[in-house]
Amino acid sequence: MHWDYYWYEIRRYITASLYFLCSYGAAWLVLLTKQELCSRQVVGPGRMVRLSDRRHLSYTEATLMEIQRLSNIAIFTIPHVAVCDTTINGFKIPKNTILIPSLISVHFDETIWRDPKVFNPERFLNQNNDIINKENLIPFSLGPRICPGESLARSELFLIFSNLLHRFEFSKVDPADILSFEGITGITTTPSPYRLKAELR
Ligand code: HEM
Repeated sequence: MHWDYYWYEIRRYITASLYFLCSYGAAWLVLLTKQELCSRQVVGPGRMVRLSDRRHLSYTEATLMEIQRLSNIAIFTIPHVAVCDTTINGFKIPKNTILIPSLISVHFDETIWRDPKVFNPERFLNQNNDIINKENLIPFSLGPRICPGESLARSELFLIFSNLLHRFEFSKVDPADILSFEGITGITTTPSPYRLKAELR
């Protein structure tokens, strides 16, 4: 595959994620006080949020994880091919079968998540505010072909999301606006159109 195609897809993934972060404005309105408390105490008003603050901002981290779980910008992985005959959960998979694992089915699996359609960052936190349930969140896929950009993407999303929350207060443009949690799915999923007001804190 040509690099231009890769970069095109990578840009789409990052921008789709960012649009989704913003589209979860409805949830932000509820979470903002908690978020703000969290980031103001750790960071203070005089500077930007840095990567080194990340381990102290577990609520922000959990919120990002929950947005990725619900938004599923990559519903499926890239197609893979079985290199040998194998069996998965009792299903025989002959060599050379094309496999397209579904990531969304893991993220909405009721045997893994309680109320999987409900936005609840706290499912990723224990009583001590430590991150839990990481292993069940797979927006970057799994195994040898896992997205090689995971670490870069997660750092970028953390920095942009936490700094936006730190510097701006978000609200609906019109109280009657409906902030939809549904996305539009093509090769990647992007959020439905929405409007938000951002005011400098
Ligand atoms: C939120 C952002 C991103 C998400 C959700 C994401 C997700 C994914 C997923 C699900 C795959 C398919 C893995 C598989 O087939 O099993 C993939 C592949 C890939 N990603 Fe990402 N990605 C993101 C950002 C990035 C970034 C920033 C880079 C590079 C800097 C990148 C580079 C790649 C490459 C090169 C592949 C193909 C790997 C292969 O075929 O072996 N991705 N990504």
